[in-house]
Amino acid sequence: MSLHLKMYIGLLVFAWAFTKSGAQECGADLILVVDISCSITSPNKTLMRDFLEDFVGVLDVGTDDSQIQLGMVLFDKFTYHPIYLNSFTKNEEYAEVVREMDMHIEPNKGPRCGTRTDKALVDTMNVMLKEENGLRTHNPNILKVVMVITDGATFPASAAPKTKAAAKELRIVTGASVYVLSLPNKNNIDGSKEFRALASKPVANYLIDVSSFADLTPLIPPLMTAICVIPESEVEEITPPPTTTAKAVIVPEPVTPGPTTPRPTPRPTAPQGLCEGPRLKCQVFMSACPHHNRQCCGCHFMFIDPDTKGLKTPFQMAREGKCLCEDCIRKAWFCLPKQYKAQYYIGPPLPLKFGGYGRKG
Ligand SMILES: *[C@@H]1O[C@H](CO)[C@@H](O)[C@H](O)[C@H]1NC(C)=O
Repeated sequence: MSLHLKMYIGLLVFAWAFTKSGAQECGADLILVVDISCSITSPNKTLMRDFLEDFVGVLDVGTDDSQIQLGMVLFDKFTYHPIYLNSFTKNEEYAEVVREMDMHIEPNKGPRCGTRTDKALVDTMNVMLKEENGLRTHNPNILKVVMVITDGATFPASAAPKTKAAAKELRIVTGASVYVLSLPNKNNIDGSKEFRALASKPVANYLIDVSSFADLTPLIPPLMTAICVIPESEVEEITPPPTTTAKAVIVPEPVTPGPTTPRPTPRPTAPQGLCEGPRLKCQVFMSACPHHNRQCCGCHFMFIDPDTKGLKTPFQMAREGKCLCEDCIRKAWFCLPKQYKAQYYIGPPLPLKFGGYGRKG
């Protein structure tokens, strides 16, 4: 069985647990803004298509206020509108369009080359997020979420100021939260400065560094929970995430074992070094809960990668040997898809307490 297929089945199990428990209540109008520019190779575009197909296949789509409607903008030098918010209501319909849509797969230095992120964002605001194209305006609890998936900054660079202006207008006028999934660029051009300007604030929560195209699909579970996060109101300055406000951010208690405290016997299955080191470097986010249902809505813990500043699950961090907040990982155990549980075991799961922190429901 191919890795892709295994991953997909894993996601289905995850999605099933996520929706059939009745716990996830996450109404959102979600626009995926997908870069199909020439700097992305054909094999990598295929990986993007796989990711998109899986993603649209597992979201709880539908017109109910608690469900997700999906729109999509593709862009290179031009923009394309394969899906509007009111185009479909079934996962298979979305998946079929994604499978068939023209992603400019063949390498071609032709007339479509370019990265007009500015145009894509203008279309997102003026075409996609419009009532006549399916935007739901009757219920303010339905979140607006824009996810830009790109490998590089606006090209030609002369259009970059338009991109920043369009992103800001999009965030302020529509109230949408803007995520940026930043993919590696073939020519090693660093788009991070522009991406930081596009993403909602605090940037660390909305700019997600994806280290390779193959890493897109494993991001689906955390993305599903991220969609449910209520955006903070627009702030100009990038402020460090607060520790006590309603944004449901908690920082782990400092654990400073005294010199006489005996080291716990290492568990044989614990990844090397995971339980040692600078615990406090991990910021922990209860990332998932829509305010109207805080009970259980997916994975509650996300970490800021200290190197990339991107958002990662505890398990990704553990795998990379970066996250040392063992308690958090053990508390987030329930949200790890079954097939990873053996691989990531670092100790018995800890109970998750919902009282005491987070947004009041
Ligand atoms: C995928 O993208 C990365 C970064 O842009 C590049 O280095 C790599 O060669 C690409 N892979 C393939 C198979 O084209």
